[in-house]
Amino acid sequence: MKEGIKILCVVGARPNFMKIAPIIKALRDHACFSEPFLVHTGQHYDASMKHCFFEQLGIPEPDVDLEVGSGSHAVQTAQIMLRFEPVLDDIRPAAVLVVGDVNSTVACGLVSVKKQYPLIHVEAGLRSYDRAMPEEINRVLTDQISDLLFTTERGAEQHLLDEGISRERIHFVGNVMIDTLYANLDRAMEAVEEVGPGEIRAILAKRQEFAMATLHRPSNVDDAVTLERLLDALRQASEQLPIIFPMHPRTHQRIKDAGLCHIIDRPGMVVTHPLGYLEMLGLMARSRLVFTDSGGIQEETTALGIPCITMRENTERPVTVEEGTNTVVGTDREKILRVFENVLATGGKHGRVPELWDGKAAPRIAEITARWFQ
Ligand code: UD1
Repeated sequence: MKEGIKILCVVGARPNFMKIAPIIKALRDHACFSEPFLVHTGQHYDASMKHCFFEQLGIPEPDVDLEVGSGSHAVQTAQIMLRFEPVLDDIRPAAVLVVGDVNSTVACGLVSVKKQYPLIHVEAGLRSYDRAMPEEINRVLTDQISDLLFTTERGAEQHLLDEGISRERIHFVGNVMIDTLYANLDRAMEAVEEVGPGEIRAILAKRQEFAMATLHRPSNVDDAVTLERLLDALRQASEQLPIIFPMHPRTHQRIKDAGLCHIIDRPGMVVTHPLGYLEMLGLMARSRLVFTDSGGIQEETTALGIPCITMRENTERPVTVEEGTNTVVGTDREKILRVFENVLATGGKHGRVPELWDGKAAPRIAEITARWFQ
């Protein structure tokens, strides 16, 4: 058993898994730390949203699964807090490390600091300045209570300073999600050959060009009028380029509830269940462009050099627009299609990979954390 500083790491939802994988590895590889303790809150519980990520990314089985499941934000956050507290009492780690901006991040962060455990936040300082986004609330609150804040892009530090967080606590280390991307790209290109539905295999076998799409933000899918408009834009685009659309359970449910299945039920739209990390990455890397409202995909497409059309009014990841391949288009159908046509005609933005997105963010985090304890 490796002796050293014990860090309790928290994951809850799909976008956390690819961030925690390199951090766990870096803590294991660093002489100062003991084996990290992993808590999964169970915010995401479907096999398609969870299991294959652990397996594909070599994340150890969580030491504890809080099994909170779905609920309103209040119920989900409260359940995580209630169930996390006894684990913390039992494990008594040297610090708690949370990633990203999901409900699990803020819930476990709050419990930790109230019990005076140091809190480490990875992916600090991102801001959309849109308080209607649940993730923005989670980001602002988690950053306020964190002791060590690790940022992915230069601009994040200024956001934190503006909010009164002292400079010594902030460290620009790069992007752990891109560590995972580089570590897995070769395997992803192989995995894609085996990918699920026959329709996807047929597209790949014919070496046909295609686009990818993902959609799950509450502001896009919970309102039937917006949802219909976005689906309609994708449907129209799919008449020129087939679209592979791995569908989040939330979006699937909303499409059924709103009676919009007919829009996606057509030949150019290949709708699948959520894909594994490797399949998704491999498909993105081979695609002509990606439509999304996800945060992480804006960064992954920038690292891959694939044009990204972000169907949101804003982004908390401006480096992907300023330096990368991302264009934030909003939710207007005509605007989405105009940018789509432009990408087809010109190949889209070329972009470059942002500073410190070099695959080594997690070892930097381990080293700075070790020094902080000393
Ligand atoms: C969460 C994160 C979001 C992240 C997204 C990625 C918050 C506030 N949001 O949003 O930042 O981009 O994950 O996926 O934490 N559901 C299932 N099976 C699951 C999980 C969810 O069926 O395994 C359904 C449930 O009906 C649930 C709905 O999806 O009510 C929403 O799930 P939830 O975890 O609340 O938020 P996400 O929309 O997934």
